[in-house]
Amino acid sequence: MSETQRILIVDFGSQFTQLIARRVREAHVYCEIHPPKDLAWIRAWQPSGIILSGGPSSVYDAGVPATDPGLPDLGVPTLGICYGMQLLAHQGGGRVQPHGEREYGRAEIEVLTDNPLFAGFGVGERTPVWMSHGDRVEVAPSDWAVLARSDNTPVAAFAHRKKRLWGVQFHPEVAHTPRGGEIVHNFLFRVCGAKPTWTPGHFVETAVAGIRATVGGRRAICGLSGGVDSAVAATLVYRAIGQRLTCIFVDHGLLRAGERAQVERTFRSELGAELVVVNAAPRFLDQLMGVDDPEEKRRRIGHTFIDVFEDAAKHVAGDVGFLVQGTLYPDVIESVSPRGGPSVTIKTHHNVGGLRPDLPFALIEPLRELFKDEVRQVGRELGLPEEIVQRHPFPGPGLAVRILGAVTREAIATLQRADEIYLEEIRQAGLYDQIWQAFAVLLPIRSVGVMGDGRTYANVVALRAVTSRDGMTADWFPFPPEVLGRIATRITNEVPGVNRVVYDVSSKPPATIEWE
Ligand code: XMP
Repeated sequence: MSETQRILIVDFGSQFTQLIARRVREAHVYCEIHPPKDLAWIRAWQPSGIILSGGPSSVYDAGVPATDPGLPDLGVPTLGICYGMQLLAHQGGGRVQPHGEREYGRAEIEVLTDNPLFAGFGVGERTPVWMSHGDRVEVAPSDWAVLARSDNTPVAAFAHRKKRLWGVQFHPEVAHTPRGGEIVHNFLFRVCGAKPTWTPGHFVETAVAGIRATVGGRRAICGLSGGVDSAVAATLVYRAIGQRLTCIFVDHGLLRAGERAQVERTFRSELGAELVVVNAAPRFLDQLMGVDDPEEKRRRIGHTFIDVFEDAAKHVAGDVGFLVQGTLYPDVIESVSPRGGPSVTIKTHHNVGGLRPDLPFALIEPLRELFKDEVRQVGRELGLPEEIVQRHPFPGPGLAVRILGAVTREAIATLQRADEIYLEEIRQAGLYDQIWQAFAVLLPIRSVGVMGDGRTYANVVALRAVTSRDGMTADWFPFPPEVLGRIATRITNEVPGVNRVVYDVSSKPPATIEWE
């Protein structure tokens, strides 16, 4: 979809680049993140404004990412943040000082002069900001006015006197800069003249029209996973083409208790969409028999999933030309890695469910411009039930990576029951929405217990609950002890074969969210 007004965020590898995008989107202005591009590309993209992100480089290092030297003359309002500001200063002939020691953390700036970027701030006003930099602009280039300074930073913000260029040394996009949102708003609305038109309702309207135009009179299929992304993608497409969409739900037998029933209820009964449910549990179990290596489990589940899904897709009648996928924006951003170089594979997440490239369908990915929280807002806009919209992420290989060691029918049943109790109690305590992901893990060890007057020698269940922004890093969730106690009592009383419950207090890193 092409928005008429959009902001280009040039990524120089800052850990905060996605946050900049979030702030712009929250102001209801559309934006995209791209690595540095040449002038022809930028002109053709027609940004209403450009934000240059921060980054770990120094403008003096060899081979560092830079903007085209012609960028300041494009006439497009441009805001450089941290490294982006230093680039503007360096290219404009100012002095960037390698600072020696990094300045990291809270600082206070003083606004020195009236400027649209600081509209709402009085001259002489001081405001807290978050700094995170090694180098800093020591002397602004000629033709630039200093807008703010701090005790440590003589040029904390500057603006070109004639061209439409601004720079800030601090990070307006982080929560630690309390009035950073106002500065971003000032840039978007006062400097770039953007309009706040990027709303869930607007997104739905344009996405639906776009899908309708793309699909024409043909048909589409969509794989449902039970998660929020595929549910929202399918609902959008259903809005656009109605009964010409067929949803396919592969039940691999590794789902949470009640998950399949919920998908059927939402899509078949409530929406009235055509839904094919494939019960492939025996086939998956067969494949997993005796396999205890996590990556091998993922590989087998991934391959079996593709076979089952493609087989089901072949049987959908009519002229099927399209496959709907719930790909999100963080998966498609072509990011500059802050550390440089390719990252090692910890888990092959994204290969699961990755269909063969020679499928005879064109892809429709209606969510590829959205962040997860925007997907949730769109889901609400579409009237999807809150239990789907607010649902915790669930891994493609499902309970197979939560049963450590070999997967058996009994292990699945035990884990489903323990997990169900766990989530029931979390919801009951009103904590579900404070947690990014909560689940139970079945450990392949037994421990001694006592029940009544007898000795037991039974399984251990580990409980995991984490808070996170994007799943990349995570912290363990601090449950009130009485909630944990209630959960443990219920699981040991109600789940046969479990006599011990432990709580995982590892953060990510060094642990990961899932145990496998
Ligand atoms: P980790 O365990 O790597 O998980 O910290 C980060 C997020 O990814 C999910 N996850 C998966 N999702 N297929 C998926 O679709 C997978 O194989 C997979 N493994 C982990 C995990 O649930 C968490 O949200």
